[in-house]
Amino acid sequence: MRGKSFEVTPYEVKGEVDYGKLIKKFGVSKLNDKLLRRIERHTDDLHLFLRRKVFFAHRDLNWILDEYEKGNKFFLYTGRASTKGSKVHLGHLMPWIMCKWLQDKFGAEVWFQFPDEEKFLYKNEVTLEDTKKATYEDMLDVIALGFDSKKTHSLVDTKHAGLMFPQAIKVAKKITFSTIKSSFGFNDTNNIGSIFYTAMQAVPAFLPSVLKKKKIPCLIPLGIDQDTHFRISRDVLPKIGYYKPAILHSVFLPPLTGVGGKMSSSDDSKAILTTDSPAEVRKKINKYAFSGGQHSVEEHRKKGGNPDVDVSFQYLKMFFEPDDEKLKKIYNDYKSGKMLTSELKNILIEKINVFLNQHQKKRKLAEKRIDEFLYK
Ligand code: TRP
Repeated sequence: MRGKSFEVTPYEVKGEVDYGKLIKKFGVSKLNDKLLRRIERHTDDLHLFLRRKVFFAHRDLNWILDEYEKGNKFFLYTGRASTKGSKVHLGHLMPWIMCKWLQDKFGAEVWFQFPDEEKFLYKNEVTLEDTKKATYEDMLDVIALGFDSKKTHSLVDTKHAGLMFPQAIKVAKKITFSTIKSSFGFNDTNNIGSIFYTAMQAVPAFLPSVLKKKKIPCLIPLGIDQDTHFRISRDVLPKIGYYKPAILHSVFLPPLTGVGGKMSSSDDSKAILTTDSPAEVRKKINKYAFSGGQHSVEEHRKKGGNPDVDVSFQYLKMFFEPDDEKLKKIYNDYKSGKMLTSELKNILIEKINVFLNQHQKKRKLAEKRIDEFLYK
């Protein structure tokens, strides 16, 4: 029997994502326990995102570690395409937090791309003014996560165009229109800017090698929808004299409305934004977070809830409860009916609000620090 259909591209995530199938479809490798042990030898502990397989797949991570063990250090690369308004949600933070952790553990440089042309090119209603403003807002979220400014460089595509364009055209020359059509599902009606864009996204994966005039391994933590861009650049980069970037893929933080999809900030009922107030968080979780609980308290006490489909539980597991013992207890209590949905939601609301309270303070302080992070 065929499973339910789903689709994952950088420009659309549709249906209930089957990550096992996606591994096969994209040809990526599963992040297995052996590889986790190997990472742990260098890091002493494992971030929750790794332990709980929120980052669940990779390309060439063993190679990155081979090189690292030979003394050939890698740099990290990730990015954020700003859109209209300040719309960073909790799901966006996952690859960035992973980068920050890897930066600390491996002493790695981080190159952070803000392609302020990307959403301008893809969305009719978005202007360059919008993305410019939002890029500033989004930078605050990135800086708030605690990156080391001495080792972190932001690239803003329209600002760093002079630096990036000569590299982008080297990539673009090796990509045909038919590759773009089949990779992104484009056709003859797509504008030519969007066809070129993937070349810009490839640049930070080898720009440090260009600048330092030696080949440096690159590791890219990302949400798996972005893999398409790098499937293409992994083909191209060796042809122009650089390493293929290695990749570490995360699943999507599910939308409030149910596990399986991707959190999206275009719909208020689906995402917790980094700028949400405690009251907004409470309202969103109480009103929208899909519950695995029963319809009445009596029924819930009798039959118990289902933490595996419960969005609040999933957020605790994927992000907010690092303590394995505590998480297990919540799981068991919810499943047995001892814990009610309202109690589970309250635990999550409290955790998110503590996190956002800290984050928003650091975000405010970041306003004075934008310049420190811009590549000069
Ligand atoms: N295309 C990404 C987005 O839509 C932004 C981005 C640029 C990115 N470079 C990246 C994401 C590298 C992951 C890794 O937000």
